[in-house]
Amino acid sequence: MTPINTITAFFPSEINFNTDPGFWNMMPVEQMALIYFLQNLKPKVSIEIGTQFGGSLQVLSHFSSKVYALDIDPEVPLRLKGKYSNVEYLVGDSFQTLPVLLENLQKENAEIGFILLDGNCSTEAVKKDIASILKIKPIGPLYILIHNSFYPPCRIGICSVNWSSCPYAHALELDYIMGGMSLFGGPLMGAGIAMAILLPSPREHNLQASAWGEPTLSELLYSFAAAAP
Ligand SMILES: C[S@@+](CC[C@H](N)C(=O)[O-])C[C@H]1O[C@@H](n2cnc3c(N)ncnc32)[C@H](O)[C@@H]1O
Repeated sequence: MTPINTITAFFPSEINFNTDPGFWNMMPVEQMALIYFLQNLKPKVSIEIGTQFGGSLQVLSHFSSKVYALDIDPEVPLRLKGKYSNVEYLVGDSFQTLPVLLENLQKENAEIGFILLDGNCSTEAVKKDIASILKIKPIGPLYILIHNSFYPPCRIGICSVNWSSCPYAHALELDYIMGGMSLFGGPLMGAGIAMAILLPSPREHNLQASAWGEPTLSELLYSFAAAAP
């Protein structure tokens, strides 16, 4: 009998998923959420910042008409060459490549429906990437997922952006998917996905921001600080 994989058991059968961590850098629950989300959204144009081995890109490619995949590593387009016909690769620091791409797409009136931010997750880099995204005037609903929102430097980056200054930002949830302990050693929290929603019409109310995982994260950070020698 073929062994059953608990993670891939409910993945769409038409896609050959591989949950090897050296292939897809997300927790199983994050992978499931990304599939469910894009399966329903089916964006015309998607952007991924941080592609690496292409784990999340395969989902974006499958459910979007067109994908722009940005990564600072020049190996990425070579590694994934010929795999996805609807993906265009852009190599460079997203601080430089993302604003240029967004400007060009806006000029073309392209309907950007989905952005996955999963590149450099330092506080400053996250702030800069989000600031570039918030300059967009969306044509239709734009869903932004930010990976690693449970990683404190990334979370601080997300929180230090002035989201309210963007009239099109209608919602922000820091823990759409709650993260947990990092698998990579050390008392560090990681993973987790934040979601922001931009709409074409300006907001007429205060921005709704929430962080339902905050008590858990605070408690974990407090426990680690208290246990430190
Ligand atoms: C965690 S991996 C992405 C994993 C991928 N999204 C997945 O789910 O399998 C982060 C990627 O971001 C890229 N990266 C790091 N800093 C970057 C930057 N400043 N601009 C663009 N890409 C960057 C790295 O080269 C790496 O491939």
